[in-house]
Amino acid sequence: MFRAGIITASDKGAAGEREDLSGPAIREMLEETGAYTVTRSVILPDDRQQLAATMAQWCDQGLVDIIFTTGGTGFSPRDWTPEATLDVCQRMVPGIPEAMRAMSMQITPRAMLSRSAAGIRERTLIVNLPGSPKAARESLGFILPALGHGLDILAGVAGECAR
Ligand code: MTE
Repeated sequence: MFRAGIITASDKGAAGEREDLSGPAIREMLEETGAYTVTRSVILPDDRQQLAATMAQWCDQGLVDIIFTTGGTGFSPRDWTPEATLDVCQRMVPGIPEAMRAMSMQITPRAMLSRSAAGIRERTLIVNLPGSPKAARESLGFILPALGHGLDILAGVAGECAR
């Protein structure tokens, strides 16, 4: 079972002015697989330092195997989630956002507007998902089939990729 953490980046959500629908949507999808248990979740304002500090803490304390963020990947002046992710990652995993954007482009050309990133800090993978529940669900659905294998390798459980 993989331990997952969810960080919702939303000024309005953190202020209690908007219900967070994306975090629960991600949780539901993960837990439906039977392979993930969501052990942490938090709603934070769109603040680069706060986002980075929470990600770093969860990774460094080995609290979760994977962190999903949702929100803050667009063009708004307060969208800084990818930058916070870059601040803390030691190794980037560009294929994950590349796949999300490429597959999401079949649904909407606006998928190219998500600046999401993914990377690794210590033994934790961090993946930025877009902010709307629809976009988050679609993007997660595209990458879920491949994530487990990556997490097994990161944990040292699987050594080699089958050919
Ligand atoms: N990806 C999918 N699969 N479906 C969508 O509807 N919306 C896009 C994009 N990615 C979308 C998507 C839009 S409209 C934007 S602005 C960006 O994600 C960034 O979203 P965010 O700022 O809420 O993170």
